[in-house]
Amino acid sequence: PKPLQAKTVRDYIRTIPDFPHEGIMFRDVTTLFADARGMRLCVDQLLAPFAGDRFDAVAGLEARGFILGGAVAHQLGTGFVPIRKKGKLPGKTFEQDYALEYGTATVEVHVDALQPGARVLLVDDLLATGGTAKAGIALLERLGAEVIGCAFVVDLPELGGRAALEQMGMPIHTLCSFD
Ligand code: PRP
Ligand code: ADE
Repeated sequence: PKPLQAKTVRDYIRTIPDFPHEGIMFRDVTTLFADARGMRLCVDQLLAPFAGDRFDAVAGLEARGFILGGAVAHQLGTGFVPIRKKGKLPGKTFEQDYALEYGTATVEVHVDALQPGARVLLVDDLLATGGTAKAGIALLERLGAEVIGCAFVVDLPELGGRAALEQMGMPIHTLCSFD
């Protein structure tokens, strides 16, 4: 008989076929975030490889990166900087256009969100083409911040995001992957 094993982060993620478009296998992290143990596992594992590093801030990508980013910032003892879809932030912003697996979009950050030289960890739930993360990194760099690394729960390696970000020399940490 198969030994009983504790659920991994991947085991908590639900797949919904054909959302939001036919042919997309949507990796739904709401089932992971809804579980107390799942949420704890996520935050702990996202931070594990950065244990020796000093961070001044955590930045998160709207929308699911906010859920994780707030928890990660609390754990690190830093503040949290939101990178939002265009039109949501009230102050003066920098903006960056990008393409994603389905469609295009623009993200923004407040021009005064970080001090130049700030050491930042960028967090999101999922890495697909890497377009969103690249746009986030570009915005953080326009603020003069130093992106020390990026942490994601899910990697979709076939979409090439991880390879593209690693080619830029960016340290990338992911907890699980789906084909
Ligand atoms: C998803 C996901 C990432 C992004 C990854 O967000 O949460 O942010 O796509 O895709 P990429 O690597 O190809 O850029 P989405 O754009 O669906 O926005 P939402 O979280 O606001 O629904
Ligand atoms: N964002 C981009 N591709 C996705 C997917 N397959 N599942 C969930 N979020 C995504």
